[in-house]
Amino acid sequence: MTSSILVTGGAGYIGSHTVRALREAGRRVVAYDSLELSEPSAVGDTPLVVGDIADHELVERTCREHDVSAIVHFAAYKNVGESMLSPGKYFRNNVDGTVRLLDAAVAADVRQIVFSSSCSVYGTPAVVPVDEAQPVHPESVYAETKAMVERVLRWYDEVHDLRSISLRYFNAAGASFDSAIGEDWTYALNLIPVAIRALLTGDQELQVFGDDFPTPDGTCVRDYIHVDDLAAAHVAAIDHLADGGDTTAVNVGTGVGSSVLEVLGAIEAVAGKPVPHRIVARRAGDPVATFSDTTRSRQLLGWRAQYGLQEIVETAYRWHLTQLERGS
Ligand code: NAD
Ligand code: WQD
Repeated sequence: MTSSILVTGGAGYIGSHTVRALREAGRRVVAYDSLELSEPSAVGDTPLVVGDIADHELVERTCREHDVSAIVHFAAYKNVGESMLSPGKYFRNNVDGTVRLLDAAVAADVRQIVFSSSCSVYGTPAVVPVDEAQPVHPESVYAETKAMVERVLRWYDEVHDLRSISLRYFNAAGASFDSAIGEDWTYALNLIPVAIRALLTGDQELQVFGDDFPTPDGTCVRDYIHVDDLAAAHVAAIDHLADGGDTTAVNVGTGVGSSVLEVLGAIEAVAGKPVPHRIVARRAGDPVATFSDTTRSRQLLGWRAQYGLQEIVETAYRWHLTQLERGS
């Protein structure tokens, strides 16, 4: 039997795109998800095990039954605001859940893992573009859980020879080009789904959090990366580990920063109508500008982003239209 890749959080937004990309690259995949924040339809006909990452017995059995050689670990909570209200919920699921997953993986002889880290581990970067040598300085409980797991992973390599790549994603956005999967606005509070919801449903205008930042148009700058580009980075990371790559952390971004108003302009150009919005006060803790230095991802993984803001907005818009037509 050929070995498989276990994708935790495989029914989620980035996980479901990565499940597809891995299968398109010819890999056998088993998705593993509690379905707390996602729908099983997102994995299509990929085998899906419904369970919690903290369930040692189920993870170990799944790894053995599917001859798992590597894990891509997405399963986590990701709402920064909620993490500041309920830190225990985030430390339990994102950190303790991951430690339990790792112990089950080691028990099942799995020694390679790709982990969903986040650009938020840098906090507000002193210099942009931000590279991996800049200090890790989390500014939220959520970001702290990612920084903690990166450190846990370094010790699991030291003690158990479990090699890992922590991918520090910038702002994931967009949907699949065939509009089959995308980011559900029922769950997401991020700029692009919220702006498209305002445009398509008209029930809530978008609040732009501040236009008095020291940027060219006064709004915050971020590195929006297409979810299919992110998925491709995971395939590259899995290959790198299979080739003997060492434990490390790598940024995954485009290297291009876009302001909030540029994003709204791109959405309006695709939709042909305005995004209803108004400027409100700054949101606490928002870094002024952050975007990725892409040197390491190109050199180490041989990966670079193929898409820009145009494709992100086009695919996201088309997917949300399809969702409305389906009545969801
Ligand atoms: P998502 O919420 O769509 O997917 C997470 C999935 O994990 C969901 O399907 C959920 O049901 C599942 N899950 C959560 N806890 C679980 C548990 N204990 N056991 C099993 N399944 C569980 O989120 P996403 O946007 O796809 O993000 C995936 C990962 O990437 C997360 O770790 C997130 O922190 C990280 N990340 C996301 C972004 C982004 O911009 N979306 C940026 C940086 C990092
Ligand atoms: C983008 C820009 C807002 C909503 C988050 C996480 C980060 C990482 C990526 C997981 C900002 C502005 C937003 C709105 C707005 N995720 N905005 N009105 O905060 O850059 O990053 O996703 O690891 O950890 O924090 O993303 O989409 O919330 O915001 O004006 O209703 O849009 O101020 O400048 P963020 P976002």
